[in-house]
Amino acid sequence: MSTVFITGGTGFIGRVVVRFARAAGLNLVVTTRSAEAASQLSCDGGVRALVCDLARPGAWQAEAARAEAIIHLAQPPTFGARVTRERALAYRALRMRMDAFLLTSLDKSSVRRVVYVAGTSYYGDVGRSLQDESVTPNPRGWGPYVAPAIETIPLYLARGLPIVQAFPGWVYGDGSWFRDYLLRPLAARKRYFTPSGPARIVSPIHVDDCARAILFLLDRGEIGARYFLVDDHPVESLDLARCAAAALGVPLKTRTAPKLAVRIQAGPVVTESLMCDANLSNARLRALGFQFNFPSIESGIPRVVAEFRERLSEEVAAPFAEGGDSAHHRERTE
Ligand SMILES: NC(=O)c1ccc[n+]([C@@H]2O[C@H](COP(=O)([O-])OP(=O)(O)OC[C@H]3O[C@@H](n4cnc5c(N)ncnc54)[C@H](OP(=O)(O)O)[C@@H]3O)[C@@H](O)[C@H]2O)c1
Repeated sequence: MSTVFITGGTGFIGRVVVRFARAAGLNLVVTTRSAEAASQLSCDGGVRALVCDLARPGAWQAEAARAEAIIHLAQPPTFGARVTRERALAYRALRMRMDAFLLTSLDKSSVRRVVYVAGTSYYGDVGRSLQDESVTPNPRGWGPYVAPAIETIPLYLARGLPIVQAFPGWVYGDGSWFRDYLLRPLAARKRYFTPSGPARIVSPIHVDDCARAILFLLDRGEIGARYFLVDDHPVESLDLARCAAAALGVPLKTRTAPKLAVRIQAGPVVTESLMCDANLSNARLRALGFQFNFPSIESGIPRVVAEFRERLSEEVAAPFAEGGDSAHHRERTE
């Protein structure tokens, strides 16, 4: 059976990609820098974990060259600390390096598809009317720091690599920013801070649909094409909090924060991301035949909240259980 080589398979989106890929019976080689994550991945006989650092050349490149298909999700850390320009510049350099070591190692005669995952921050602030992938990018926030990597992709395409580019919007699920910045504070009945200024339009997608769409593009994506991975209903950013609060059964207490305060807290890069309108269409993805399980946040967020609640109750119960390996610990070490 053919093998799919997955980078970033331990990340927020990648973990779900791995789960769906295994459910579909695919054999996987999954990269990670962590020996512990590798041993957890290897518990599944259909997964071979490869401990490696994509920012350095190594034997992993020969493994990538042998794979029939590639899903490239790995990125330098973006989450969990204030994002200064220096940090974003370091991200830009490292991302370029990781891409170059991976993409130059591939053999165009044997690889069937490469799904390269970027983000809609590259398109940035594209206004309040609905746009498709042909809109001129206006990179904002992380966008300018991802742009050099994305703008190098045409060179690899010209060399014959069968690359399909996926641009997820705001990916929500029980993890990453959605759990730490939205679900946890709401569940603790803390105030939810919104930046001052007009309400912004964002294009969300449930992490399960994002992962399914990435796998779908592996078979059906057109080489050279770009696809927005967003659900059917762009929303105002505050709607995510409204919907999550309703699903949690807590009141939504908001407070407007001046832009300067957001900048001090989150840094200039994230602040700029929050000031963009991105009303994006999934028509190109849908035209290929992709079906969403969660076409709106109203259908997706209650499911995420249910998973979040289950995890919370496991976290509370775990210290009292014999040999208690808490869910929180598992999450941190995955
Ligand atoms: N999360 C979102 O809301 C969102 C939205 C739009 C687009 N995206 C895009 O989707 C992709 C995946 O995002 P994510 O949020 O799932 O990522 P993530 O949770 O930040 O995970 C990053 C992954 O990259 C791996 N990694 C980092 N540095 C590495 C290195 N030097 N060598 C090998 N692996 C390395 C990590 O593996 P180990 O730590 O195990 O080594 C981890 O699996 C990214 O391209 C991102 O730009 C994400």
